[in-house]
Amino acid sequence: MCGIVGFTGTTDAKGILLDGLKRLEYRGYDSAGIAVQNNNVIKMVKASGKVDNLVELVEKNKDIIGNSGIGHTRWATHGVPSDVNAHPHMSTDGKFAIVHNGIIENHAEIKAELIAKGAKFLSDTDTEVIVQLIDYYYKGNLKEALMKATARLNGSYALGVLCADSPNTIYAVKYSNPLIIGVGAGENYFASDITAFINHTKNVIDLDDGEFASLTPDKVTIYDHSGKEIKKEERKITWDVAAAEKSGYEHFMLKEIMEQPAALKATIEPRIRDNKIHFDELDIDIKKYDRILITACGSAYYAGCVGRDIIEKLCKLHVHTEVASELRYRDPIIDEKTLVIVISQSGETADTIAAIKEAKSKNATVLAIVNVVGSAIAKLADYAIYTWAGPEIAVATTKGYTTQVAILAMFAVWAAFELGKINEKEFEKYTEEIKKIPERAQRTLDLNARVKKLADKYYQKRSMFFIGRYLDYAVCLEGSLKLKEISYIHSEAYAAGELKHGTIALIEQGRLVVAVCCYEPLLDKIISNIQQVKARGAEVMALAMEDNKKIFTEADDVLLVPKIYELFMPVIEIIPLQLFAYYVAKNNKCDIDKPKNLAKSVTVE
Ligand code: F6R
Repeated sequence: MCGIVGFTGTTDAKGILLDGLKRLEYRGYDSAGIAVQNNNVIKMVKASGKVDNLVELVEKNKDIIGNSGIGHTRWATHGVPSDVNAHPHMSTDGKFAIVHNGIIENHAEIKAELIAKGAKFLSDTDTEVIVQLIDYYYKGNLKEALMKATARLNGSYALGVLCADSPNTIYAVKYSNPLIIGVGAGENYFASDITAFINHTKNVIDLDDGEFASLTPDKVTIYDHSGKEIKKEERKITWDVAAAEKSGYEHFMLKEIMEQPAALKATIEPRIRDNKIHFDELDIDIKKYDRILITACGSAYYAGCVGRDIIEKLCKLHVHTEVASELRYRDPIIDEKTLVIVISQSGETADTIAAIKEAKSKNATVLAIVNVVGSAIAKLADYAIYTWAGPEIAVATTKGYTTQVAILAMFAVWAAFELGKINEKEFEKYTEEIKKIPERAQRTLDLNARVKKLADKYYQKRSMFFIGRYLDYAVCLEGSLKLKEISYIHSEAYAAGELKHGTIALIEQGRLVVAVCCYEPLLDKIISNIQQVKARGAEVMALAMEDNKKIFTEADDVLLVPKIYELFMPVIEIIPLQLFAYYVAKNNKCDIDKPKNLAKSVTVE
């Protein structure tokens, strides 16, 4: 939520900041702004709405010149999306400008205190208290003022700071929200995410919570929470700038859907040797645990629901799922015999972080399945298994989800063998099936044109149902979420057998029901459910495994998905549903990569 970027170098900063903000826009797009510094004066421009609005304003404003600056793209938390609430925020005397990603919980109390001391506030944001506080504590030494000010803050913050007294210098502070330094040649950067500066440098330094940094064009100086200068290692990003660009696709979402075979290959292949699955990163004795609890948010949670079914089936172990935003309020039964699996693409989701803390306070072992290397969740967990999906920019996850499900399927097979629930031959047989996933995903993408046609047929429906049984139902949850979040069309995922217990009242002439029928052991069951909705006038679009002849006489339209072992089908069968959501949203002229009210990484509760 919210993206921040900073640059210091020898060229004009505004182009670099605006470009960085465009790349960070997936984190929030309620407003945007930049501030640059020149000759000990800070100039700022900001606008509500998307970064394009800001670009227009900057083009008109000839004053915005300077070789160092900071920028922000906002997902509103305190105060409506407006020009005045947009970041950066400046101190009353114009000496400081800051950008902030996070939330300051005790802002009201600090604000009252500062107002009593004469400070004037312009916005409704929590952020403005930070800049006024820095100004209040500043007596010529910015490092000291930053330390004093941040010591007063409760909450989470990644900050970028400009000071009129410090030419060519930008400051960055990290606490509980992502912040990465980019080390260039004669220029340096910070940002919420590498994508903001990947086209300039691939050398990065990860800041840890409590650390802060001052950046000049030639030097990056890092301090720990006590203000002591520390040395930190640089790491090199392995992916290329193209991974963070659309590469000819109209939307990041479509590009990321198409990247799934490669992402799955990168996630699966390095973990297979001698026809067996290996998790070198996992040094645990799985026999120690009597239950597994899977927790996550949104799509990651739905990936967990698929994982629950596969793990339980293969490992014969109790597996529970719980949405991370609820976990800590339920006083869950967790102890040292519980393996808690958390799942997160971004590695920054506040509710998932809170769930990890809850699990650790109850002595559980925490294993994170996470996409972003070095993210907060990867660091907090006892073990991290990375999905190698590469950067995911579209707000709606696609390759993040499928790689999570692939890891969960692999984990289930691996754990089943470790627990003695499958023998070596079965281990190899399942591994062989897992190896097929990337190729099957590639073949599934051949459905693209057919799915587009079906989206053309159905995009005007204002409500839809996704029904399935067992694993297919878990996939329906994700298929329905995809449609809702990017097309704004109401849809519900229902366990097909549950419809008749009430919800079938909503089935009427012309209602579209997407029936996911890939789990063949329950094919006859879902076919009866299809007949029940058809008898009440529904139109049915079915998704089934190739070779399924029966389905053609039941459904109005059929999409056939390449075959793979039934427990691993979810990785494949979600792909046509992603494409369906994409084309329905496109036909409805929705802003696919940046759906309304959403942001990519949800760092607030
Ligand atoms: C939906 C979507 C969200 C995320 C959820 C968790 O397309 O992307 O539901 O899955 O916000 O995010 P991560 O995986 O970053 O923890």
